[in-house]
Amino acid sequence: MATEQTYIMIKPDGVQRGLVGEIIARFEKRGYKLVAMKLMQASKEHLEKHYEDLSSKGFFNGLIKYMASGPVVAMVWEGKDAVKQGRAMLGATNPLASAPGTIRGDYCIDTGRNIIHGSDAVDSAKKEIALWFPEGLCQYTAATASWIY
Ligand code: PPS
Repeated sequence: MATEQTYIMIKPDGVQRGLVGEIIARFEKRGYKLVAMKLMQASKEHLEKHYEDLSSKGFFNGLIKYMASGPVVAMVWEGKDAVKQGRAMLGATNPLASAPGTIRGDYCIDTGRNIIHGSDAVDSAKKEIALWFPEGLCQYTAATASWIY
């Protein structure tokens, strides 16, 4: 078990459906630490880079169009086994195969509108974090300060 960072992105349908707070709460309550977050309208070129491994797939153009249809919430979450556990929290890619209790299993039914992305491996997380957060992350120590009560 290792402390890792994973790239998690709430897709345009997740933003439009008002699921941002619910999704963030799940990662916070699980015990993961938020180290970067921004709401952004990604360009087609940026999304093509993010999904470049899928460029030969028949659904590629539709995926890029969907992802560019509105803003996404880009985040980096840190903690024990964050990549693997993040994927478990998301549920299967096809929401109909996602267990109830997972984010996709609770909130969606269509692979083409599956509300959230999570890195599938530590190496891809590193690449995705570099692509979405070239400015770097917000590093801080979990506080035990007087304002926590
Ligand atoms: S594959 O074919 O096995 O490589 O694809 P998979 O790993 O299942 O999914 C990779 C990402 O492609 C998205 N996807 C789709 N989007 C739109 N339409 C269809 N039919 C479709 N099939 C797969 C899937 O949600 C994955 O995106 P991310 O952002 O990683 O969740």
